[in-house]
Amino acid sequence: MNDASDGDRYLVVGNPIAHSRSPEIHAEFARQTGQPISYRRQLIPTEPADAFDRVVAAFAAAGGRGLNVTLPFKERAFACATRHSERALQAGAVNTLALGDDGIYGDNTDGPGLVSDLQGRLGFDLHGRSVLLLGAGGAARGVIMSLLQAGVARLTVANRTPARARELAARFNAAPAVRDSGLAAVGAVALDAAPRAALVINATSSGVLNAALALPPDLFRDCSLAYDCVYGAQDTAFMRMARAGGATQASDGLGMLVEQAAESFLIWRGVRPQTAPVFRMLRASVASVASVAAVAARAADGA
Ligand code: ATR
Repeated sequence: MNDASDGDRYLVVGNPIAHSRSPEIHAEFARQTGQPISYRRQLIPTEPADAFDRVVAAFAAAGGRGLNVTLPFKERAFACATRHSERALQAGAVNTLALGDDGIYGDNTDGPGLVSDLQGRLGFDLHGRSVLLLGAGGAARGVIMSLLQAGVARLTVANRTPARARELAARFNAAPAVRDSGLAAVGAVALDAAPRAALVINATSSGVLNAALALPPDLFRDCSLAYDCVYGAQDTAFMRMARAGGATQASDGLGMLVEQAAESFLIWRGVRPQTAPVFRMLRASVASVASVAAVAARAADGA
């Protein structure tokens, strides 16, 4: 089972998992950095409830070094980790596990992945800016801490079900890491009362569900950047809506997918790969798939 010529072994796990782009991204990172790793995908059944834990335990026992974890196992991965990063603690979800002699370290690289894509590739400096985050599910929860730590002046979560937005905001506002370190407090509103902002991020699942997103008509009037965590072969419905509404720039979430992978690679290998060439490679590969529906996916569903 353990083929030494493969180098250190990593897995991406989820259900479904066939769509995952992570094996090609990490193969490219490994080639570029000369790191001797193999990276494969594995489907985990959703029943029995401990199927995930068994796979992790068996992989660790066989000498595996780390896993990327996607839906629906991010909370399970959180529970499985024996140590957590601060951002994983705040998100209550883990997408990266590092297996070591001293236990299992859990981190969540979705937030840093988003921030890197915004500040690096897209050149949007978050410091002092107003940000509107659409959605209050796991995808939104995974990026809030990183946005706050990047120094945003205002962060408002807007959700179709306002109570969920309020719960999410309260969770972060009560966290010592937010309360005691001068970070902006998180606001919460109903989706149809969403305030205008310089940066509008779509972290709802409307794009992957192919459902309409009902937003205030002039939401994008002061918007410099509209960012959709969904990516696909063509511009997403959210990007088109944002541009039509006056947003200066719109981006999909493909860059977030590549950046979160680079953060995982850094955790595992201690080296951060160059992401720009991998982004270009992936963009070409995603664009070459004829059916948008077949590839529309969310970076945070990720890995
Ligand atoms: P995840 O973010 O991990 O997918 P989720 O619990 O499925 O977690 O959350 C999906 C998010 O997308 C929620 O914020 C959901 O809004 P509700 O809390 O009101 O359900 C949002 N969402 C999904 N479809 C939507 C739509 N058509 N319009 C607006 N928001 C939508």
